[in-house]
Amino acid sequence: MILVIKVFIKLKKILEMNTALAKYYPSQKIRRYIMKKYIMILSIPLMVIAGNVYAEDGGALFKKKGCTACHHPTNDQSAKGLGPSIAQIKAAYGGNKAAMVNFLKGSGAPKVDKAKYPIMKAQLATIKSLSDAQLGALSDYMLK
Ligand code: HEC
Repeated sequence: MILVIKVFIKLKKILEMNTALAKYYPSQKIRRYIMKKYIMILSIPLMVIAGNVYAEDGGALFKKKGCTACHHPTNDQSAKGLGPSIAQIKAAYGGNKAAMVNFLKGSGAPKVDKAKYPIMKAQLATIKSLSDAQLGALSDYMLK
């Protein structure tokens, strides 16, 4: 909602600016050039706001993609044929986000439990279509 109001105020400002400029710069070409620069400057904060709104939520993705079925925050469920806890995964990676993103892309070797890797490897298919930003958010969630 705030975003919509902000966009509206900015559009109004842009229109006012164009009318004001017409007095000093009768040439349409010059006015258009000035307006372009002005709009560019005005859009920077808007893009920052939009970026925050659409920032990926790793925790939500972890749930949505079914990762919670096998990975409990603290309980190791390997004995039940499921997966290690997020805490164990975090400890194995020691904050190495790049290595985790690599693993999630299917190109890294498992650090936690080599014997059960085939189970996890099958899961990687479910996140194949995710963007780098989404895989990064998933990693941030597990490493936090
Ligand atoms: C069917 C159960 C299952 C599901 C669902 C599952 N995992 Fe796993 N996961 C495992 C098992 C078992 C391991 C241990 C094998 C291993 O270390 O690769 C593991 C290990 C991992 C590891 C550690 C990899 C390493 O270096 O050893 C990460 C990271 C991970 N899972 C992330 C995820 C994410 C993200 C999802 C959701 C898309 C997910 N898992 C869904 C079973 C599962």
